Amino acid sequence: MRLIHRRAVLASPLALAAAPPAFNSLALNQRARKRGLFFGTAVNHETITNDRHYLDRIDAESGIVVGEAQFKWADIHPEPDRYDFTRADALMAFAARHKLRVRGHTLVWHEAIPDWLRPALTPDTAEAILRGHIRAVTRHFAGRMVHWDVANEVIQPDDKQPLDLRATPWLNALGPAYLDIAFAEAATCDPAALRVLNEFGTDYPLPWQERKRAALLKLLADLTSRQVPVQAVGLQAHLDAAEPIDQKILSKFVTDIAAMGLKIIVTELDVRDQRLPGSIEVRDIAIAAHAKAWLDPVLACPAVLGVLTWGLSDRHSWLNDTFPRDDKLDQRPLPLDAALERKPLWQAIAAALDAAPVR
Ligand code: XIL
Repeated sequence: MRLIHRRAVLASPLALAAAPPAFNSLALNQRARKRGLFFGTAVNHETITNDRHYLDRIDAESGIVVGEAQFKWADIHPEPDRYDFTRADALMAFAARHKLRVRGHTLVWHEAIPDWLRPALTPDTAEAILRGHIRAVTRHFAGRMVHWDVANEVIQPDDKQPLDLRATPWLNALGPAYLDIAFAEAATCDPAALRVLNEFGTDYPLPWQERKRAALLKLLADLTSRQVPVQAVGLQAHLDAAEPIDQKILSKFVTDIAAMGLKIIVTELDVRDQRLPGSIEVRDIAIAAHAKAWLDPVLACPAVLGVLTWGLSDRHSWLNDTFPRDDKLDQRPLPLDAALERKPLWQAIAAALDAAPVR
């Protein structure tokens, strides 16, 4: 049972009144479910093995989890003829124990690839390698995986490739057909898992993001018109609290995706703050307002199925390594602080879920 729920039920009315309101209020996934949505988070292997308290909070707030690295090529396919499901299976076992659903991330990406892969990919070998990997991985988890991010971060207009696709080892070896192959193989091997094209950098009215949105819509129109079995778009939503938000642009973008018959999932939400001042109060308020302003127009779209954050607590975020602050302070990108307490971003996500129309 959910920790928060149990405490709320057992506490006396007096204790409830005295407690901070956030502590007793409904967990994020419970709020999401009331709207026909889900809420969940990424979890890494260290947390699974070493951090019981954090896992309790994930269990309390989430209905779905995704591996931060455990399903990527580098983790799962270290040598051409060897798969290693140890870390992925530990996540599956945690999820099964807590009745959490699991989404898979990711089958095709240009990052987190093992050393052997790049030199092995030629026009003659790449299709068999790609199909073999997708077959082995999706079959291993078949029946237990609710979504697969079949392809991740495939758009890069600056690369000047067909369909504005990113110049990756897959594109170089197979051309744009690598996407057809990946989605078709995933559909054959685990037809029940929702097939997602996951992308970042589509959040703001910046010119490069405008180009990415246009390219993504064009690619989706091409794939769907040729019956390539893509079913949903993942919006990573790695947000930046210092950027202005244009809600009209966001509304139109999600409406355009939905009009192609595709579902939408917010897959990796977090809010970086390295361009904000150091004060925790100032950052927390700006981060919360920013996330709410982004989520409101997106969650208003009926095609949206749910939201996952890229970690639940500031105890661990990839942002401190990837986009460090000049003053070296830890960022505050996630719903819980490092002590696992709910903070203004938690309140903002809760309010956005509460305001979403019922599916
Ligand atoms: C990140 C992980 O969080 C890091 O730990 C790792 O070092 C690099 O990858 N978009 C994605 C995720 O699709 O897979 C990335 O995850 C974050 C950006």
